[in-house]
Amino acid sequence: MPKQGSSNPQTVAVVLAAGQGTRMRSSRPKPLHAVGGRPMLSWVLDAAGDAGCTSIFVVVGHRADEVRQVVEAMRDEGDPPVAFVEQLEQLGTGHALAQAESHVDPKATILVLSGDVPLVRPATLRRLADAAAEGWGAMATATLEEPGSLGRVLARGDDADRLERIVEARDASPAELAVHRINAGLYALPAGVFDDLRRVGTANAQGEIYLTDALGLAAADGRTIALVELEDPSEALGVNDRHDQTRVHQRLVRRHLDQLMADGVTILDPDRTTVEPTARVGTDTILHPGVSLLGHTTVGSGCILHQGAWLRDVRLADDVEILPYSVLESCEVRSDVAVGPFGRVRPASVLLEGSRVGNFVELKKTILGRGAKASHLTYLGDSEVGDGANIGAGTITCNYDGKNKNRTEIGAGAFIGSDTMLIAPVRVGERATTGAGSTITQDVPDDALAVGRARQRIIPDWTERKARGEKDG
Ligand code: UD1
Ligand code: CA
Repeated sequence: MPKQGSSNPQTVAVVLAAGQGTRMRSSRPKPLHAVGGRPMLSWVLDAAGDAGCTSIFVVVGHRADEVRQVVEAMRDEGDPPVAFVEQLEQLGTGHALAQAESHVDPKATILVLSGDVPLVRPATLRRLADAAAEGWGAMATATLEEPGSLGRVLARGDDADRLERIVEARDASPAELAVHRINAGLYALPAGVFDDLRRVGTANAQGEIYLTDALGLAAADGRTIALVELEDPSEALGVNDRHDQTRVHQRLVRRHLDQLMADGVTILDPDRTTVEPTARVGTDTILHPGVSLLGHTTVGSGCILHQGAWLRDVRLADDVEILPYSVLESCEVRSDVAVGPFGRVRPASVLLEGSRVGNFVELKKTILGRGAKASHLTYLGDSEVGDGANIGAGTITCNYDGKNKNRTEIGAGAFIGSDTMLIAPVRVGERATTGAGSTITQDVPDDALAVGRARQRIIPDWTERKARGEKDG
């Protein structure tokens, strides 16, 4: 995505992601739990980068090394640099931010983000930076029907867009709890906040150093902290437990589906369709209920994906039809191809233009030629099928000898009879034919017929002879 410059060239982000996230009840660090197909922290980092941050500091603590490794592996060229700041003990959000003090340019605007609020949009961060430039600081708020355990935002009596203080749900009075305006955990602040943090105590229900209290102190000093109300309140959804994770995942997917529909994709039942935000779909493609497009899948235009099509990291060209309940992974499908129903295309396979993969056909590391057909009950592994070849029902490439995977080559225009066993390595020539039921152990020359099966015998009156106790004819 192109980076859009922020209004302040010196905007940096500090992402708080050191907490243990106990309520996830997980052996995995919370920032690495996936939403929308990627670790939740990566969404926050991307939003910071797209908002124009020149550098990003991630405060890590719990299982810091794992978090660092995953983040480093995910950085792309052109992303702003990410540095890690360790918070050895998790003493609260204020304490977490304080750890970044020596790293941050004192003149910079600091976007303080939560590693567990992944729906944040770059435009919101730019709005926060702009609002902060007008006064001292800014924070994002949302008005929720069910504010739950989120911090309640109390505005000044004389100005509903200016902060007075934030009270955590656990510390709130019944009257404060009844407030529906919540703290989204997204802020734009000057480096002066580090001075306020030094004044914050721990007299609260959790005995922690709250970042929110530093803002209360700043407001009490008469400094202006603008309250920036989110247009889309769901942006404030944080992930504290598995319920939150599901909700946020679904929001991310739904956001992507809405964008796809706006761009000309038909999605018949969005509630039963998953297109991970990393996947792309072209115009005039139709997605039936129960389709899953995962990872870096790209679908061309004019395709039809029927119920239960499951694709991960697949490239589909234009005008492809995927019939119900087909599973495709890490493969490439060129234009005018049909797969399924119940097709299975495994990694490193390429289906060339106009080819056809039918019912209960499995392909692995196989190139299927232009217009070639494998329509029924077939396994093709480590093989190359020439243009226009026809693979009969029940054909199997016997590619594994117990030690090695061996290759099968089938020439253009070849006709493989039903129930042919191709004992690899083996080559069937162009326009060659194999008889139905053959076990092919030797190469077949171009244009030849190969039959490798026992000749049929007829034993007349067998029923009677069996009854008489005869053994064989
Ligand atoms: C926080 C806010 C709350 C707000 C909510 C929005 C405070 C005190 N409360 O509550 O007002 O409504 O976010 O989602 O700030 N973290 C650290 N180190 C720590 C503690 C936390 O890095 O010592 C990180 C966590 O990993 C997390 C983020 O800070 O990514 C927020 O912490 P969390 O404990 O989830 O705060 P909330 O209770 O959600
Ligand atoms: Ca949280």
